[in-house]
Amino acid sequence: MSDKPFIQINDLHHNYLRHTPLEVTALHGVSMEIYKGEAVGIIGRTGAGKSTVVQHFNGLIRPLEPGKVIVDGQDMSDPKVDVRRVRQKIGLVFQHPEQQLFERLVGDDIAFGPKKLGMERAERRERVRWAMEMVGLDFEEFKDRFTFSLSGGEMRKAALAGVLALQPEVLILDESTSGVDPRSRKELLERLLTLHKEHGLTLVFVSPNMEDMAGLVDRIYVMDEGRVVMSGITREVFSQLEKLREHGLGVPQVTEIAHELIARGMTVEHIPVTVEEGVEEVWKILSS
Ligand SMILES: Nc1ncnc2c1ncn2[C@@H]1O[C@H](COP(=O)(O)OP(=O)(O)OP(=O)(O)O)[C@@H](O)[C@H]1O
Ligand SMILES: [Mg+2]
Repeated sequence: MSDKPFIQINDLHHNYLRHTPLEVTALHGVSMEIYKGEAVGIIGRTGAGKSTVVQHFNGLIRPLEPGKVIVDGQDMSDPKVDVRRVRQKIGLVFQHPEQQLFERLVGDDIAFGPKKLGMERAERRERVRWAMEMVGLDFEEFKDRFTFSLSGGEMRKAALAGVLALQPEVLILDESTSGVDPRSRKELLERLLTLHKEHGLTLVFVSPNMEDMAGLVDRIYVMDEGRVVMSGITREVFSQLEKLREHGLGVPQVTEIAHELIARGMTVEHIPVTVEEGVEEVWKILSS
């Protein structure tokens, strides 16, 4: 991990429908840092401002004064910044995949980014094949399917493939795996974690569900009402049950069970956040 953040946001404020009676303040001074090679979670209940924050990461929303967004050393307020290059480095998979898909055929949609980059036809085809395989969409079966005929889960996969096809350095998933069945989701996440571990892909997962984050991310930012209200390594954040509840969040059931056991006087060495860790702890208790 390098010592300088790859993405740094500082004191971000954002209002939707500015200067109208319907104005909404979505962010009240949010700061975060994402380092190269990390897997970071951003969680918070609905309306917390998560999607608004991550749209600043790749220049979809420009920072308002005095907020700052620095990506790979570049100040995103600078009008000279090449936003297209930033979006190639930082791939954002939208919360609603239908906002991301616009070509008639699935294969064309996934090829759109590589085509814009000027990639040759043959190379493009291989890139599309690779991206589709990464998300678990069979190339031959799906490349000529109509985009609008996909199921919700397949749409999410196609939207993710379209972003992966650019081989970004940072991948941001805005709850984009929900709506996919549990087995596909697990497979998808395993593939992304392989890219993360073996190729250094930086991951940012956005979700309202703590259970989704367990075993995935090293570090977590908790947001509520447009602010970062907690942050730290996953296990530490998960250990603050009461505070999380105040912000409308729960912890994985296995973590809750461990807290309950401790409250009843049992010794639990490491608070588990995944089922595997839970099994380990139960095993230790039973064999002691
Ligand atoms: N385009 C928009 N116009 C007006 N208000 C908006 C718009 N987008 C978001 N908001 C408001 O800004 C606030 C933050 O929204 P945001 O989408 O960032 O939250 P979120 O944490 O991603 O929520 P969710 O978990 O439901 O996706 C909410 O109050 C929301 O209603
Ligand atoms: Mg959102």
